[in-house]
Amino acid sequence: MTVTALIGLQWGDEGKGKIVDATSDAVDVVVRAQGGANAGHTVKVGETSRVLHLVPSGMLYPDTTGVIGNGVVLDPAQLLTELDALAASGHDLEGRLWISDRAHLVLPYHKRMDEALELLRGQSALGTTKRGIGPAYMDKAGRTGIRAGELRDPGLLRARVCEEAASKNRLLASLGTSLVDGEAIADEAVACAARLAPMVRDTVTLVNDAIDADQRVLIEGAQGALLDLDLGTYPFVTSSNCHLGGLLAGCGIPPRAVDRVVGVAKAYCTRVGSGPFPTEDHGEAGQELRDKGHEYGSTTGRPRRCGWLDLVALRWAVRTNGVDEISLTKADVLSGQSVIRVCTGYRLNGEETHTFPGGGDVERAEPVYRDFPGFDGELSEARSYDDLPETLRDVIAFTEDTCKASVTLVSTGPERAQTIRR
Ligand code: GDP
Ligand code: IMO
Ligand code: MG
Repeated sequence: MTVTALIGLQWGDEGKGKIVDATSDAVDVVVRAQGGANAGHTVKVGETSRVLHLVPSGMLYPDTTGVIGNGVVLDPAQLLTELDALAASGHDLEGRLWISDRAHLVLPYHKRMDEALELLRGQSALGTTKRGIGPAYMDKAGRTGIRAGELRDPGLLRARVCEEAASKNRLLASLGTSLVDGEAIADEAVACAARLAPMVRDTVTLVNDAIDADQRVLIEGAQGALLDLDLGTYPFVTSSNCHLGGLLAGCGIPPRAVDRVVGVAKAYCTRVGSGPFPTEDHGEAGQELRDKGHEYGSTTGRPRRCGWLDLVALRWAVRTNGVDEISLTKADVLSGQSVIRVCTGYRLNGEETHTFPGGGDVERAEPVYRDFPGFDGELSEARSYDDLPETLRDVIAFTEDTCKASVTLVSTGPERAQTIRR
């Protein structure tokens, strides 16, 4: 098995960072392929918990090579902040983290646009992370974006940034928002370029060469299947394809190169930002999951909306991505619930459906539940599958049966060792 793609199966924050880190001891190259600093992937090693936004999560091992692929939108200042924090704690990534020359840059005017567009949406705001993601992908699709390859030519970079800032100022003026200072943005971009340019290269060839050499490659998805631009709860989605197809395009490898698709799902559901969430629990259980699971955004600190495991949505994510194996996270957080609810269908227009609806129908879907008895006690000491409570194993067996994929890993805490492989 040389190439593994790892995908979030819900609305993000499934614990992808933990799973990537816990499995990267057996990986040579770890690749981020889409999204940008909207991602917040938490990695806990010993007592230290770190949130990585752009640096691939597998890079805390000293010998892994990291790639920020062509599909990523890269905020240069954010990346340098992250690299400096890692270097200060003894993780020097120099010479082993590479940036695709094709990756698009996120600059301060994208963040200002993100804020302005959210304000304009008023009541219908998406609740974005305000990291400039949508506007950067708008520039990419509109073919005006600035790419990381341009960091190599400071003169050209300055001219391009000033030109784009002027164009954004025309839009910002029409939205009645304060303007950006193009020269100041160009100064910062040129300063970042001096440090980042040596890391920029053709990563498409690097990754394909690694595959040809039978190296173990892990593609680390960001966000999740239900935030996918095409297959998620549009328009309450992110601006990239978090789908397997987006990951492949985002690092430039052919579909046939992928040996294994791992999906990461929480044992319940969370969502941060606006949009439909059929199994959301507004009562005590939702609050207990938030408290016990520390469900506050890794990127924005916002409280996450919490609710029950949704097998209609999970089956959709597994099926559309061809997921072979599920890593089930945060099973420990269910402890103490008197009942564990699992959504098996949606009631819609008087009928029960088992497929995830598009359009606005998911807003109207009423969940149909199957209830399992709860369990008490800590799971963090469990080391083998048989150590898990019987009722949890029943939920897992039911999930496997419904979603047609095996749960091959159960995570019972944020640390590396709190990982049970089957
Ligand atoms: P990601 O974006 O998918 O990487 O997930 P986040 O890092 O945003 O959020 C997951 C949170 O849950 C982080 O705080 C992790 O440290 C934590 N976490 C991951 N796996 C587990 C687990 O099995 N149990 C518990 N209690 N916490 C976990
Ligand atoms: P990770 O990789 C959870 C959500 C935002 C908002 C919507 C659009 O940590 O799982 P954007 O800033 O992308 O335009 O926001 O998508 N969102 C995430 N939610 N985890 C993430 O990433 C997310 N990235 C974006 O909250 O609802
Ligand atoms: Mg996250």
